[in-house]
Amino acid sequence: MTSLAQRLMGNAAFSQIYEHLWRPVFTRGFSLGGPETQDYDRALRAYLARPGDRTVLDIACGPGNYSEDAAAGLTGDGRYIGLDYSMPMLAQAQSRHRLPRISYVRGDAHFLPVADNSIDTVMCLAALYLIPNPLPVLDEMARVLKPGGELIIFTSVEASIAALPGARTAIGWSGLRIFGKRELLVQLQSLGLEHIEQTITGVGQYIHARKPKPQ
Ligand SMILES: C[S@@+](CC[C@H](N)C(=O)[O-])C[C@H]1O[C@@H](n2cnc3c(N)ncnc32)[C@H](O)[C@@H]1O
Repeated sequence: MTSLAQRLMGNAAFSQIYEHLWRPVFTRGFSLGGPETQDYDRALRAYLARPGDRTVLDIACGPGNYSEDAAAGLTGDGRYIGLDYSMPMLAQAQSRHRLPRISYVRGDAHFLPVADNSIDTVMCLAALYLIPNPLPVLDEMARVLKPGGELIIFTSVEASIAALPGARTAIGWSGLRIFGKRELLVQLQSLGLEHIEQTITGVGQYIHARKPKPQ
């Protein structure tokens, strides 16, 4: 059975309110009312917008919340590709974020329609916790990265709130997964990624890692 969260992502009405209403509230919620996740989100957007000739793959891009930031600084042959499996989300993305370097594709995060070693920045924001089998998605992200390329993740992480009465039930009902503090790091290490940095903001975590260049 699909979870509540998965059903919402495929809903046309939800896709229309997601970017400007739902996601900002959700982002605040990830730091449990504190400013950390919003601050980090702003810093991430500025980082994504830095100038450069690179290919960016945004897995589970939703309605394209990060498309314009990630495409803003692209130069040369640089381009941004947003991938999602929800048609309503992609329809929103396509109608709202029209820039020459931006394109969208329908696909499943487990089977990226992209060649090995071809992407400079691969990111997956606010989505891994919705995906029933998320660890193989990391394998795919590592596969498509160019040597020297970077991986960026924003997702959930276990925190004391999950121990509160009823919290686990509510989380289970929503279908959201809470990752252990080292769960994703261990997987990334096993894939050979390096310079792995984790920043925890409340019940959210940002991860940045790189694929090594050959010696
Ligand atoms: C909460 S939205 C996140 C959107 C955006 N990345 C953000 O940061 O706000 C999660 C997205 O993941 C997509 N999604 C979930 N499972 C997926 C999968 N296996 N392959 C591709 N997209 C998926 C959903 O359709 C939805 O658009």
